Amino acid sequence: MKQSVSSKAQSTVLENPLDNLTTILKYDLTAVNGLILQRMQSEVPLIPQLAGHLIAAGGKRIRPLLTLASSSLFDYQGTRQHKLAACVEFIHTATLLHDDVVDDSSQRRGRSSANALFGNEAAVLVGDFLFSRSFQLMVEDGSLDVLRILSHASAVIAEGEVLQLSIANDLATTGEQYFKVIRSKTAALFAAACEVGAVVAGRSPAECQAMHDYGLYLGIAFQISDDVLDYVAAEKRLGKSLGDDFKEGKMTLPVIHACTKANAGEKAFWQRCMADLQQQDGDFLEALSILKRHNALEHSLGEARKYCALGIKSLAELPDHPLRQYLQDLIVFAVERDY
Ligand code: IPE
Ligand code: IPE
Ligand code: MG
Ligand code: MG
Ligand code: MG
Repeated sequence: MKQSVSSKAQSTVLENPLDNLTTILKYDLTAVNGLILQRMQSEVPLIPQLAGHLIAAGGKRIRPLLTLASSSLFDYQGTRQHKLAACVEFIHTATLLHDDVVDDSSQRRGRSSANALFGNEAAVLVGDFLFSRSFQLMVEDGSLDVLRILSHASAVIAEGEVLQLSIANDLATTGEQYFKVIRSKTAALFAAACEVGAVVAGRSPAECQAMHDYGLYLGIAFQISDDVLDYVAAEKRLGKSLGDDFKEGKMTLPVIHACTKANAGEKAFWQRCMADLQQQDGDFLEALSILKRHNALEHSLGEARKYCALGIKSLAELPDHPLRQYLQDLIVFAVERDY
């Protein structure tokens, strides 16, 4: 199903751009991981126990890598980016804890989810703790610009999740509504992670905006790909359960597309499964076959590739630096990845 992007960017893509970024930024990432471990501590043992369960499972660390890559691309020589990258990962981790409760997900990063293991109450409350820690880290940085960018992203993520909740199970959901959700719940943090790297480096408003835009487009492409993978990924590689979106009646882009093409029988199927949540054995496979019939997964990836192209355009406004190519590889990978 996955097709290669036949662009100049693709020809220079190395095995896995995330591994490459991790290697190049190893020193900084080690500092960030140290801060994450240090700042998730609390005298209330359940907090490090639960947070540690999720954090020790790894995760791709894309968002902190973006902050590190952004500040390094501008040759920033200080260390402010470490706390900010940790802050960004704390915001992300908090949203994952809450998201798995909301989505009733039992798997995360190849392990039982925190809600499955510790219960919803504990997962929600430790999520709140990590959000609060992220704000402490922002304040410690001391820049009002940074505080504005990251606190704004945090509020927008919550808005996106609530908006998604309010349109779940609604077969009339439009592409426009879908894009508003993913811009908010996912892309806003990618954008902020990139932008603060430019801000600490003291760059011009235009460069900060270009970094922000790259992150925004990357986040949109990344979430579309995540929504496609929810139907077709190899579960083991994904590290989370396949079909969570279908199970919860989430109106993601593949389903929205298939609904616009549906015949009467298919409409009745989507109504029963997504709106009425009256699902039976075999429905997920049937959904997959309808999606394939209408080319809905490939159509969605096509939309993601448009954002990939926009992100590459934004990068062109940034200084010519080796990291710029790595960020270009990363946005291609975000669409073509299989986990
Ligand atoms: C998961 O993000 C949430 C989405 C925006 C789809 P990641 O796929 O970056 O999760 P981890 O941190 O690598 O586990
Ligand atoms: C992303 O949406 C969640 C957030 C950005 C909070 P999903 O619900 O699709 O993320 P996964 O698939 O559970 O990681
Ligand atoms: Mg989820
Ligand atoms: Mg969700
Ligand atoms: Mg998902």
